Amino acid sequence: MDLWFWLVFIMIVAPTVPGSAAGTVGVNYGRLASKLPSPGEVVELVRSLGVTKVRIYDTDATVLQAFANTSIELTVSVPNNDIPALATNISTAQNWVNSSILLFYPQTKVTTILVGYEVLTAGQHIMPYLLTAMENIHSALATLKIDSQVKVSTTHSLNILNMTSPPSLCSFDHEAIVRPLLQFLSKTGAPFMVNIYTFSTFQQDKGRNFPESFALLKPTGFVVVDPISRLRYENLFLAQLDAVYSAIDNFGFSDIQVAVSETGWPFTGKSGASVRKSRSYNQHVARLCLSGAGTPLVRDRPIEVFIYSLFNEDLQPSSLGTFGLYFTNKSRVFDFDTRTLQPSNDSYAECLRVSLTRIIIQMRLKLRHRRFEAHISISSGISFSRTSNGLRITHHQLFPAITGSRGKRS
Ligand SMILES: *[C@@H]1O[C@H](CO)[C@@H](O)[C@H](O)[C@H]1NC(C)=O
Ligand SMILES: *[C@@H]1O[C@H](CO)[C@@H](O)[C@H](O)[C@H]1NC(C)=O
Ligand SMILES: *[C@@H]1O[C@H](CO)[C@@H](O)[C@H](O)[C@H]1NC(C)=O
Ligand SMILES: *[C@@H]1O[C@H](CO)[C@@H](O)[C@H](O)[C@H]1NC(C)=O
Ligand SMILES: *[C@@H]1O[C@H](CO)[C@@H](O)[C@H](O)[C@H]1NC(C)=O
Ligand SMILES: *[C@@H]1O[C@H](CO)[C@@H](O)[C@H](O)[C@H]1NC(C)=O
Repeated sequence: MDLWFWLVFIMIVAPTVPGSAAGTVGVNYGRLASKLPSPGEVVELVRSLGVTKVRIYDTDATVLQAFANTSIELTVSVPNNDIPALATNISTAQNWVNSSILLFYPQTKVTTILVGYEVLTAGQHIMPYLLTAMENIHSALATLKIDSQVKVSTTHSLNILNMTSPPSLCSFDHEAIVRPLLQFLSKTGAPFMVNIYTFSTFQQDKGRNFPESFALLKPTGFVVVDPISRLRYENLFLAQLDAVYSAIDNFGFSDIQVAVSETGWPFTGKSGASVRKSRSYNQHVARLCLSGAGTPLVRDRPIEVFIYSLFNEDLQPSSLGTFGLYFTNKSRVFDFDTRTLQPSNDSYAECLRVSLTRIIIQMRLKLRHRRFEAHISISSGISFSRTSNGLRITHHQLFPAITGSRGKRS
C-alpha cells in the first residue's frame, strides 16, 4: 500500500483514540408517578443498570436515606418555588443545608445541588433570586467545610442559546444574569448543567436538514461541518454540547465543565418514539461517555450525563412523550446495562471510512487545482450522506438549527 495512505491513516486514527479517563453515566430518578417501587428497591434497580450516579428532583429524606452507604453518588435538586426563600434569608439556606443535606451526609454521597429547573427559560419571576440562592447554599456548605465535596449548580434548557447555529457562534441570552452565574461556577468549580433533547430538535427540523440518525447518534456517515471552527460533527448531541461550550467560551470562562443534566429519547407517546430507538440512543450516549472522548471542541474533558429517565412517570404531561428505562412495576422497558456496553465497531469503521474518503477527495482536488482554496472550501461546509449506491457528497451551506427543548417537567 502507498506510503501516503498510511500517513493519512495515522493522521485520522490518532486523534480518535479514546482518552484514559472516562466520563460517567447517571440516571434521573423522577417520582411523578401514581405508584413506584420503594426507594430501597430503587437502589437495586439502579445498581443493575451499572450507572454510578442518580439525580433526584428534590431532597426527599427517604430517598437520601436509601442511598446511604452505597457507592452511588447523588445529585439533589431545589424546586423552583423554594428559590426565593433561600435567596432572601441566609439562615433559611443554612437551615435547609442542615436538614436536607448534612443530616444524611457523608453516608449518602451528595455531590451536587441543582438549584432550580431551567429557571432562565421557564421561571422569569424566579430569575432575579437564582444566583443569590445558589450563593447562600454555597456559603452554608463552606461554613460546614464541605463546599469542595458538594457543588452547587442549576439546570438550563438549550434554548438559553442566543442563536440556533452554528455551534461556534452561539452565545447566551440574559447576559446580566448569565455572566455572574458563570463567574460563580468558575470560582466554585461547579459544572454548567444543560438538558439536551436531540429528539425535540429533530421534531422541529422534520428531517429537512439532517436525518434522524444524526439525532439518534447513529454513525451513518452524515457529517456537518461548522463553517467557522471547521470542526466536524457526526451527531447532533456533540454539536449541541459544543454550542454550550462555545457560548461559555464567548463569555471568557473556558475552565467550566459542561454536564448534561437530562438527555433521552421517548419510547412511546410521540411520533418518532420507539423502544428500539430509545434503547439505541441511550446506548450511544453511554458509549460516548464511557469512551472518555470529549467533544470535537473540548477533547480533553470526558462527557458526563444523566439519562432521562429511570421510570416512565405516568403523572408527567403525556404531550412530552414517555421516557423510562423501567416501568413502575420494575420490569424493564428494554435491556440497558452500562457494564456490558462495548465500544461500537460499526461507528469506528464508519467514521474511519468517511474520514478517509474526505481526505482522499481533498488530496485529489488539491492535486487537480494545486490551489489551497480548494482545500478550504471543501472543509468549510460539506456533509456526507450515504445512499444505497455508496457515499454521496452534499454541500451544506448552513449548519442546521440545533436548539430545542423537550418542554417543562411538571
Ligand atoms: C451507614 O453506615 C454507618 C456506619 O457503618 C451506620 O452508622 C449507619 O447507620 C448506616 N446508615 C444507613 C442508613 O444504613
Ligand atoms: C430569617 O429566618 C430566620 C429563621 O428561619 C428567622 O428567625 C429570621 O427572622 C429571618 N430573617 C428575616 C430577615 O426574614
Ligand atoms: C447547622 O449545623 C451546624 C453543624 O451541626 C451547626 O453548627 C449550625 O448551627 C447549624 N445551623 C443552623 C442554622 O441550624
Ligand atoms: C449572539 O451572541 C454573539 C456573541 O455575543 C453575537 O456575536 C451574536 O450576534 C449574537 N446573535 C444573536 C442572534 O443575537
Ligand atoms: C409491567 O408493566 C408493563 C407496562 O404496563 C407491562 O407491559 C408488563 O407486562 C408489566 N410487567 C409485569 C411483570 O407485570
Ligand atoms: C466487533 O464486530 C465483530 C464482528 O462484526 C464482533 O464479533 C465483535 O464482538 C465486535 N466487537 C465489539 C467490541 O463490539
